[in-house]
Amino acid sequence: MHPWIADRTTTFDASGIRKVFDLAAKLKDPINLSIGQPDFDVPESIQDAAIDAIRSGKNAYSPTQGIAPLRESLMQSINARYPSQDRDVFISSGTSGGLMLAMMSMVNPGDEVIYLDPYFVMYPALLKMSGGVAVPVDSYPDFELDPDKIAAAVTPRTKMILLNSPANPTGVTASREQLEAVAQLAASKNIALVSDEIYSRFYYDKSFVSPAEFNPDTIVIDGFSKSHAMTGWRVGYVHGPPEIIATMLKIQQYSFVCAPQPFQWGAVQAMQVDLQDQIEAYRRKRDLICDGLADRFEFTRPGGAFYLFPKAPGDAGGEAFVRTAIDRGLLIIPGNIFSDRDTHFRISFAASDETIRKGVALLNELAG
Ligand SMILES: Cc1ncc(COP(=O)(O)O)c(C=O)c1O
Repeated sequence: MHPWIADRTTTFDASGIRKVFDLAAKLKDPINLSIGQPDFDVPESIQDAAIDAIRSGKNAYSPTQGIAPLRESLMQSINARYPSQDRDVFISSGTSGGLMLAMMSMVNPGDEVIYLDPYFVMYPALLKMSGGVAVPVDSYPDFELDPDKIAAAVTPRTKMILLNSPANPTGVTASREQLEAVAQLAASKNIALVSDEIYSRFYYDKSFVSPAEFNPDTIVIDGFSKSHAMTGWRVGYVHGPPEIIATMLKIQQYSFVCAPQPFQWGAVQAMQVDLQDQIEAYRRKRDLICDGLADRFEFTRPGGAFYLFPKAPGDAGGEAFVRTAIDRGLLIIPGNIFSDRDTHFRISFAASDETIRKGVALLNELAG
């Protein structure tokens, strides 16, 4: 290893994701069911708002906490949702920026952080960067949030429970009861509860529930990347107890500085955009893929997000199955990138109906 490289970078690696990119690079015109962002473009009125901001000179740093109109608009909806809670909000550089600042602000070296396995790839990496200890809780085979399993993982060193419903990579949504139980567990043990709600708009069967409804100290991290197809614009937000928000802002001031100002103006417009048609379309895509694969694959029907996490057929494992699929021109992601196990694979249904149909036909053929 190069002598200049810091020790903290050796506690995690990016080889799994790199492997997928390398495999993908070999494919000319793949059936691509690997993408973690919507297949629609940023709605036009949002594009116009960002362009207007650039043309009218709103190109400088914004305040660290974000532009006032966006914070006010978010604060209004937060207060409507949690009328009796004392919450503050700031604009982060994407949900990822919010997650990074949450770890930096709350996790001391040696602190344990509980989250479900399968997990979003960034969680273990981010918390190891801050010196934390990952405590993944196995949620196979149905990927449900089991409050008893979470309670069993708690030790005197537990600092944080990190929830993600709807989840990447499984699309599974936690029930009101499960969230309430975990929220109360965190409150009773004085454990920080962080809720990554980036997929909150992509909710297909019931209405979205946040653990913040049951625990006023929950730190909620959300953003516009997925809901408004703005992944490259890097606008997220965090709300929670004012003292925690102030600490995260202190770190933002000396790191990200602020989220890109023109795109914050785009986000002000995004708050006015009705996403109902897009969500309906994604509900139909969810049905299309689930109905298409139900006969030959084992999976939990996702209640949200745009992912499905089926078990690979046979005994070869997730990675071997993905290699076979890629050899046939279908790009999917091996489950071991998101998990300590190599038994499953992730499909994204953020794709055209035609691509989904082609992918379903090929997967069924591969499953024999
Ligand atoms: C669960 C989860 N959290 C956070 C993010 C990061 O989103 P952002 O683009 O807002 O940084 C993603 C992106 O894939 C995600 O799946």
